Amino acid sequence: MALGGVKIVGVGHHAPAHVVANSDLEQWLDTSDEWITARTGMKRRHWAAAGESTSDLALVAANQALEYAGLQATDIDCFIVCTVTPDYYFPATACLVAARLGAKDRPAFDISIACSGFIYGLTAASGLIRSGVYQRIMLIGAETLSKILNKDDRSTAILFGDGAGAVILEAAQENSFLSSELGSDASRPELLYVEAGGSRHPIDRAALDERLNLVQMQGREIFKTAVIKMIEATAKALEKAALSKSDITLLIPHQANKRIIDAAAHYLEMPGDKVVTNIHEYGNTSAASIPIALSETVRAGKIQPGNVIVFVAFGGGLSWGAVTWRWAA
Ligand code: UT7
Repeated sequence: MALGGVKIVGVGHHAPAHVVANSDLEQWLDTSDEWITARTGMKRRHWAAAGESTSDLALVAANQALEYAGLQATDIDCFIVCTVTPDYYFPATACLVAARLGAKDRPAFDISIACSGFIYGLTAASGLIRSGVYQRIMLIGAETLSKILNKDDRSTAILFGDGAGAVILEAAQENSFLSSELGSDASRPELLYVEAGGSRHPIDRAALDERLNLVQMQGREIFKTAVIKMIEATAKALEKAALSKSDITLLIPHQANKRIIDAAAHYLEMPGDKVVTNIHEYGNTSAASIPIALSETVRAGKIQPGNVIVFVAFGGGLSWGAVTWRWAA
């Protein structure tokens, strides 16, 4: 079967109004602006207000993307939300977003693969369009990680933030999707997980007392794997697309730690001005981090037709992935 092309025609992003600076965290945690800045590159993060949910953030980003593309919600054939902080177990957050946009009859589903969500989503959505199943897909990465953070645990509370980024993918003559490399290894899920709340460990009194319904991470253990897997995935994605490092115009990595990004950029021989970072403003927003960074970069006019972009991520699962993308007019 001959595959068609796909391109991005709309982008949007949104973060909650409430900003939590490093100095705010100093008020209740044994931490410091110096430590957080030096070890992570983070200065601020946005946390949703009480009652502000993932679909609330996704909706704003989606509306921005529709406006950018000059489209109505009813022009979209399918909605996908990548998130590990859905509004509910079910229905899927994508169904809520579609209904709230006024496209309630459309197919909609979520992808749950933590920080790699947007990379998996971009691969799946591109495949659905290139194989002719759908003409237009709204792909959103959206998270309210502040809702599942143990705010008393300095090893995780400082790292995560909330936000949403949306892209609209459309069938096209030319093809932007060049390659994808995805992977996972859940031999040690406890490296980064929420232990209670699923079928293995339903929430009970003891789980709440021990805060097992909140994020736990062994950060030091996964740091090295993050760097290795992001480099490996990028190298394999470049090889699949018959590209070399020097063909990359822009690297848009998941924003987990500035030191992880710098290490990956160093291997890829990418100077700082070719690496998109906004970690100082948002912290780690999991599946939202790459589409937020993409939307900011596109809206700032920093991407031109023909530019080759590498999107790369690593996160809970463990999971990882990279996509190479040639920006279309
Ligand atoms: O997006 C999903 C994937 N996630 C990641 O990729 C995260 C990967 N990991 C990381 O980014 C880093 O490991 C962290 C930022 C989480 C931690 O940085 P680190 O340089 O690996 O620090 P560490 O865990 O080795 O801790 C060093 C020291 C420890 O003290 P001792 O044992 O040396 O006395 C920690 O207790 O820093 C201490 N520490 C802190 N100090 C001040 C840990 N957290 C903090 C804190 N403020 N917030």
